[in-house]
Amino acid sequence: MISKRYVEISNLVKSYPNPFGDDFRVVENLNINMFQGEFISLIGHSGCGKSTVLTMLAGLNEISEGGIIVDNKEIDGAGPDRAVVFQAPCLMPWFNAYENVMLGVENVYPHATKQERHEIVEYSLARVGLADSMKKFPKELSGGMQQRVGIARAIALKPKVLLLDEPFGRLDSLTRMELQDVILDIVAQEKLTSMIVTHDVDEAVFMSDRVIMMTNGPLARIGEVMSLHWERPRNRAEILTDPLFFEYREHLLSFLEQRAHLKSHLHDVEDNRQFTNENLLKFSF
Ligand SMILES: Nc1ncnc2c1ncn2[C@@H]1O[C@H](COP(=O)(O)OP(=O)(O)O)[C@@H](O)[C@H]1O
Ligand SMILES: [Mg+2]
Repeated sequence: MISKRYVEISNLVKSYPNPFGDDFRVVENLNINMFQGEFISLIGHSGCGKSTVLTMLAGLNEISEGGIIVDNKEIDGAGPDRAVVFQAPCLMPWFNAYENVMLGVENVYPHATKQERHEIVEYSLARVGLADSMKKFPKELSGGMQQRVGIARAIALKPKVLLLDEPFGRLDSLTRMELQDVILDIVAQEKLTSMIVTHDVDEAVFMSDRVIMMTNGPLARIGEVMSLHWERPRNRAEILTDPLFFEYREHLLSFLEQRAHLKSHLHDVEDNRQFTNENLLKFSF
């Protein structure tokens, strides 16, 4: 039986210290349960706390109150069972695609043989369509191809949970659609439980089983949850012409619009501010 609580986020709170030394509560009592293989989108205005929730689930950001259980185990820090793809893949420029993926694999599978590690890296790169570009360096790869390496690096860890923080934010719409399909394919095949943070309501509707709409911060909470019942694998052409698609996206857009005038006065955080290459590798140790 599929557990409805494969990922269980309970009463999650995040407070950051502000410059005056006080606690600034960003996320307030958030509860999300995900079943194994479920795909959830988090949407909400900039600065509401989406990345904060995702990075807490990744174990890269300390939990202030509450807890997160993944596959019956309370998380305590980062681990290879939860892989993250950020907006910028942060590849090591002096390593080629193969070596960039190998870096994580060496950390996660120190006891695997050289041949086994080689196979994991090759398989992961082939899985994202880079079979012919393994020896290319980041500067020889387009933005979309670099992000493919980022995805390969994540799936090479053989995670249970895939976390995506605006992974296609910098890509053109065609590349974005190609990569959405790549992700959906992998997620279905590997039965990954996934959470994506996105600004793109079409992306949220097309990819997800549920879309979680967060209210504006501080003290951001879940405003609404929308379930999408289309079958998988999803056919883009069919979905784009389904009248339901327009209803769903209108609903999400109106949720966001209603809150636009309430938009937080706080600045948006520059993405990846806290995530240097060094940090990014943490989850593979
Ligand atoms: N390391 C940090 N220290 C202090 N405040 C932070 C930190 N990271 C994020 N914040 C604040 O928390 C809020 C939520 O940020 P974030 O989770 O990045 O939002 P989102 O991803 O929804 O745009 C913002 O007001 C931001 O300024
Ligand atoms: Mg963010």
